[in-house]
Amino acid sequence: MFKRVKTGIYGLDELMGGGYRPNSVNSIIGTTGVGKTVFGMQYAVYGLNRGENAVYVSIEMTEEELISECEQLGWHEIREHVERGNLSVFQVYAEDTVFLTRDLLGMIESGCKEGDNNRIVIDSFTPFVLRSDSRRRKGVAEFFKRLRNLGTTVITLEEPFLESSSFEDAIIPILLSDSVIRLQNVGYGELFSRTLRIVKHRGSNHGEGLYPYYIEKGLGMVVEASKSELQQVKPKTEFGKEFERVIKEIRGKAPAELEEILVQKLRECSTAWTRSEPPTNTLNLFLKTELDKYD
Ligand SMILES: Nc1ncnc2c1ncn2[C@@H]1O[C@H](COP(=O)(O)OP(=O)(O)OP(=O)(O)O)[C@@H](O)[C@H]1O
Ligand SMILES: [Mg+2]
Repeated sequence: MFKRVKTGIYGLDELMGGGYRPNSVNSIIGTTGVGKTVFGMQYAVYGLNRGENAVYVSIEMTEEELISECEQLGWHEIREHVERGNLSVFQVYAEDTVFLTRDLLGMIESGCKEGDNNRIVIDSFTPFVLRSDSRRRKGVAEFFKRLRNLGTTVITLEEPFLESSSFEDAIIPILLSDSVIRLQNVGYGELFSRTLRIVKHRGSNHGEGLYPYYIEKGLGMVVEASKSELQQVKPKTEFGKEFERVIKEIRGKAPAELEEILVQKLRECSTAWTRSEPPTNTLNLFLKTELDKYD
C-alpha cells in the first residue's frame, strides 16, 4: 500500500482512508466564505512544518497577503518557510494565463523541488477553466496529468459556477479530480453551521456522512465526526472466519485458472470490510456469480 498524503485538517484524514492519494489532484468546492482558502493554507502549512515543499497559486493574494492571512490564524512559522524557499507563492491573473500547461504549469514547476512530495494549491482554479482557451476537457486533463507528476494538489472551485448551465465547463475539474470535498454553510445567525461532505475519493474507502466543521483561530479547520461515524469507516476484523470459509469453498470449486484471482479478491475485501453487518449475503452473491458455469 502507498503512503497517504495527510490533509492536515483535524479529523478529516480518518474519514478519507488516511488522506489523499499521492500524486493526485483534489478539489475543494464551496461558495464564498466557507473556508476554501483556510483549507488550502492549512494543507500547505501541515506539509511545510514536516519538511515538505509547497507552491501556492492565488488569484487574490500576494505573498505578503498570504503570510498575513496565515498569521491571522496564528501560523507565524509561515514567514520562515517563505524565507527559506520552501513555500513559493504566485499571484496570478487568469487573464494572463493563455495555456494551462504552458503558463500556469511552468510557474508551478518553478516552485517545485526535486522528488514528488510537493504540495500544490491553486486557489481558485475556477477562473482558469472559465477562460476560453483552457476550457476544453482535454486541456484540463493534460494539466492535471502534469500536476500529478509534480506532487499532490488541492484546487479550490467556486460553487455558483458549478450549477449554472452557462458555465458548463466549470464542472470539468470536478469530473477529472481524484477527490472532491464540498464545504457548505447552512443557516444564519446563531443557527449558522458548517458542514463537510466527501463527494468522491477515488480508490479509497471514505466516510459518507455530512460532518460538522469549525474554523478555530490557531488550529484552523476541524472536522468533527461522531464515534459511530468513525466506526463506519474502520475496517472490521471480526468477519475473518467467514471470509476464510468462502476462500476454502473457492479453493474446492473454482477452476484452476481462476482460483488465485478469486482468493485475492476475497483477501482484499476481507481487510477492507467496513460495514458492521456480516458479509454473508455479499459473499453468497460473489460465489454465485464467480462460480456460475458457462453453458
Ligand atoms: N483568523 C480566523 N479566526 C477565526 N475564523 C477565521 C479566521 N480566518 C478565517 N476564519 C473563518 O473562515 C472564513 C473565511 O474562510 P476563507 O477565506 O477560507 O473562505 P473561502 O471559501 O476561501 O472564501 P472566498 O470565496 O472569499 O475565497 C471566515 O468567514 C471566518 O469564518
Ligand atoms: Mg478564498
